[in-house]
Amino acid sequence: MERPVTIKPAQGKLGVLLPGMGAVATTMIAGVIAVRKGLAQPVGSLTQMGTIRLGKRTEKRVPKINEFVPLSPLDSIVFGGWDIFEDNAYQAAMKAGVIEKDLLNQIKPELEAIKPMKAVFDQKYVKRLSGPNVKTGKSKMDLAEQLRADIQNFKKQNGCDRLVMVWCGSTEVFIKPTDVHQTIEKFEQGLRDSDPNIPSSMIYAYAAIKEGIPYANGAPNLSGDVPALVDLAHKLSVPICGKDFKTGQTLMKTILAPGFKARLLGMNGWYSTNILGNRDGEVLDDPESFKTKEESKLSVLEHILQPEVYPDLYGKISHVVRINYYPPRGDNKEGWDNIDIFGWLGYPMQIKVDFLCRDSILAAPIVLDLALFLDLAGRVGFKGIQEWLSFYFKSPQHASAVYPEHDLFIQLMKLKNTLRWLKGEELITHLGLEYYD
Ligand SMILES: NC(=O)c1ccc[n+]([C@@H]2O[C@H](COP(=O)([O-])OP(=O)(O)OC[C@H]3O[C@@H](n4cnc5c(N)ncnc54)[C@H](O)[C@@H]3O)[C@@H](O)[C@H]2O)c1
Repeated sequence: MERPVTIKPAQGKLGVLLPGMGAVATTMIAGVIAVRKGLAQPVGSLTQMGTIRLGKRTEKRVPKINEFVPLSPLDSIVFGGWDIFEDNAYQAAMKAGVIEKDLLNQIKPELEAIKPMKAVFDQKYVKRLSGPNVKTGKSKMDLAEQLRADIQNFKKQNGCDRLVMVWCGSTEVFIKPTDVHQTIEKFEQGLRDSDPNIPSSMIYAYAAIKEGIPYANGAPNLSGDVPALVDLAHKLSVPICGKDFKTGQTLMKTILAPGFKARLLGMNGWYSTNILGNRDGEVLDDPESFKTKEESKLSVLEHILQPEVYPDLYGKISHVVRINYYPPRGDNKEGWDNIDIFGWLGYPMQIKVDFLCRDSILAAPIVLDLALFLDLAGRVGFKGIQEWLSFYFKSPQHASAVYPEHDLFIQLMKLKNTLRWLKGEELITHLGLEYYD
């Protein structure tokens, strides 16, 4: 690609489609509406509050990101989605109990107007859930075609110029890629045969890519992360990314671990436990859904600390992650971490972190940023896996030839340098040779 890249303007309406209209999705939707009305601030959103340094420090050029690259304004966003429950966004947000009733009541009409379409769902993949608002079809291909029809109707009815899709549905059971996931042809045959290795989230990903819609996966299940769908995204010039929004405990891990490594402090172990009481916690109480989440959470440390490069410091880490469903907590998760580190001459030390967080409050700005950045990616002609958006994920989708980048600070540099590159600005290397001249 030539620099600067031609960026199509963010004109007209952007439809943000959300499979799964539970706690995270409704917290994001309600938040955007509240921000639009001047009732609250979009805290935690890089696209809304972030800045980007350009040129040398002496130039003092630090525009806001949304003034530097053309992003869709919040006023131009229209929301839609699917869920297995019939609750509209107001009812779902009330049930999720994340945002206070007072605020929800101030935006009630806008939220009530957002009603979920019938979902593609099979309880085989999410054991703890069942609901009435579900499509029936002759085959998984038939279901994919119904989703494509939903997408086309939504676009027409809402007068949208462009669409993006962000999976905010429940975590599905652990599935490893098999033969049916290897090529587009095998995958499409698998859809026609209703292959059991194709869970609902993959049907949404397929439908989105076929419709040319950028797709992000906020849960740890495979969804768009199989060779067939990555190839399809390339072939049809569609940007995709995933997996699993980086919030809570893993966010803390990817903030702290790069710091220990930077100072070459060794580590013997990292024990993490969580209690949470929302529907996500209930779904993760099923061992098969938990296994998907566990895999996603465990890979982080290994990639950041690189035990193969630093065997003396990180060669023998005991890394344990637990999640317990504890209803009284609702969405207000508590994540405890005990970190056993060692310093000079091997002397041991301990760090305890107790993060009383709000899961969906941390996830909502990620959904918004992903929607806006993926729309940008679509307008500049990026296709396939968008590694520059790894910043937002616990388990970043990556090209098969490379390992994923987990360090939050490298991820942020990569994201901002991608934006600089798009606009023909110098990349920032932090190299300063003033003392040499
Ligand atoms: N909140 C966070 O911090 C966070 C972080 C990382 C990942 N996630 C993931 O994001 C997802 C959403 O989290 P949440 O807290 O909103 O959960 P939630 O249970 O409140 O919402 C998920 C919704 O998805 C619906 N759903 C399930 N399968 C569906 C399907 N096939 N089609 C349409 N709808 C479907 C459920 O009915 C539910 O309403 C989960 O997979 C969770 O693991 C959340």
